[in-house]
Amino acid sequence: MLLCGNLRGGRGGEAAGQSPFPAALRSASRAPSLRGSDLQPPGAGLASPEPRAPAAAGASDLGGPPGPRVPGLPPGRSGRRAGPPLLGGSLQIPAAGSARSSAAAPRTMGGKKVCVVGSGNWGSAIAKIAGSNAARLSTFENLVSMWVLEEEVGGRRLTEIINTEHENVKYLPGHKLPPNVVAEPDLLKACAGADVLLFVVPHQFIGKVCEQLKGHVKKGAIGVSLIKGVDEGPDGLRLISDIIHEKLGIEMSVLMGANIANEVAEEKFCETTIGCKNAQYGQILKELMQTPNFRVTVVQEADTVEICGALKNIVAVGAGFCDGLGFGDNTKAAVIRLGLMEMIGFAKLFCKGPVTPSTFLESCGVADLITTCYGGRNRKVAEAFAKTGKSIEQLEKEMLNGQKLQGPQTSAELHRILKSKNMVEKFPLFTAVYQICYEGKPVTDVIKCLQNHPEHIFVRSPDFLGAFAERWKGRGSPSRPWRLPA
Ligand SMILES: NC(=O)c1ccc[n+]([C@@H]2O[C@H](COP(=O)([O-])OP(=O)(O)OC[C@H]3O[C@@H](n4cnc5c(N)ncnc54)[C@H](O)[C@@H]3O)[C@@H](O)[C@H]2O)c1
Repeated sequence: MLLCGNLRGGRGGEAAGQSPFPAALRSASRAPSLRGSDLQPPGAGLASPEPRAPAAAGASDLGGPPGPRVPGLPPGRSGRRAGPPLLGGSLQIPAAGSARSSAAAPRTMGGKKVCVVGSGNWGSAIAKIAGSNAARLSTFENLVSMWVLEEEVGGRRLTEIINTEHENVKYLPGHKLPPNVVAEPDLLKACAGADVLLFVVPHQFIGKVCEQLKGHVKKGAIGVSLIKGVDEGPDGLRLISDIIHEKLGIEMSVLMGANIANEVAEEKFCETTIGCKNAQYGQILKELMQTPNFRVTVVQEADTVEICGALKNIVAVGAGFCDGLGFGDNTKAAVIRLGLMEMIGFAKLFCKGPVTPSTFLESCGVADLITTCYGGRNRKVAEAFAKTGKSIEQLEKEMLNGQKLQGPQTSAELHRILKSKNMVEKFPLFTAVYQICYEGKPVTDVIKCLQNHPEHIFVRSPDFLGAFAERWKGRGSPSRPWRLPA
């Protein structure tokens, strides 16, 4: 558990015997840090360990409609398998007549089974990538299961629609999923036998999901949290990856970045960051997630990566307020900069491990912050909040078609933590967002907060950067994040 100022236990406590990963790969703390070139050649993620069947003519790399491409990378180079997935775990092959019932060479043995736990906007976009890569790489079992909270859409079950039309028409309409992604409404069946679990539900539901999964996860499985948010424990901050680790006993990594789901699904180029303490697991996860238009950097500082993903949503709410009040891009840049300062300060205070400024320069940091403050749902709803005066809950219902907001709730969780530590005034932007969302303070307070931000009150010493470093001295030993070779 990550507690305020406390050390957590290690995350790699699972029994080793039945791990699907070689023993040498399971010693996270003993694994040497890898350093390699920061540069990755276009298409590096396409390097398949074995030859694959060519993709269907005209198909995009990820199985959906063709999107923008890196010059020189022809469509279909990833060799997406055209045929059906295999029966895996307790999942059933969908009814004959679906795309998956056409002929293809099956593959079940030896590959790691992947399950996507969640099927919202981001869950579906990531299933598209993981499904496409699993279909072409021998490291993974062909079939990728996706847990779908069952609901009716237009009088039909959502799982049935996904398994016949290969489209999540509610949460990611207009994008085809690869046919080897199979929707399963039963959480335990979806996760049965999975070696790699990608957790991607809104953060308010993760506790309940883990309760159901407890005792049913394969020994030695690893997890990745793509969930943006934090929780609070009796002693302070709890990361979502810690909640999953504590409940399921699996080693956890995180994936966060400037990744608006619809753009990722459209295969528009972007970067992402995997925070993973075990270099070999990082390599496997990179293989699973990387595509020519979704470039993965792996860093060791997983806690910092995760906290960036949670806090930027609060800043985005502040940016949306400014938009709603009619302020311009200069104001938004100020919100982004001051928000980033508060994010770094909060991470330095509350992360157990080292917090290195360079991690904030990865996609999970400043890039995600920028994209969320311009394009995300938190910004959008906050803008409407400022313009209409309707409540956040009402706007979430009206504007998001079942999708969930993270920023306001995260601001409330953070506020409780800051209050209990007497640190509210050190984080004026986070506090203003909370008070506007939940305490009836006027939206214009966000501008007052910017005007009176401590950053503008004190004259900086000539050695500002030195003073900044001094301020956080003693909070973990700085260590440079390592990267994996391409
Ligand atoms: N959408 C994005 O662009 C994006 C990008 C990066 C990260 N994320 C993060 O990914 C996570 C998941 O977001 P999303 O966009 O996939 O979801 P979403 O907001 O689009 O969809 C809501 C999902 O929650 C499910 N749900 C509703 N009630 C539930 C319950 N009681 N228990 C379990 N599940 C329930 C719904 O079935 C649906 O799948 C969030 O933490 C989000 O911050 C989203």
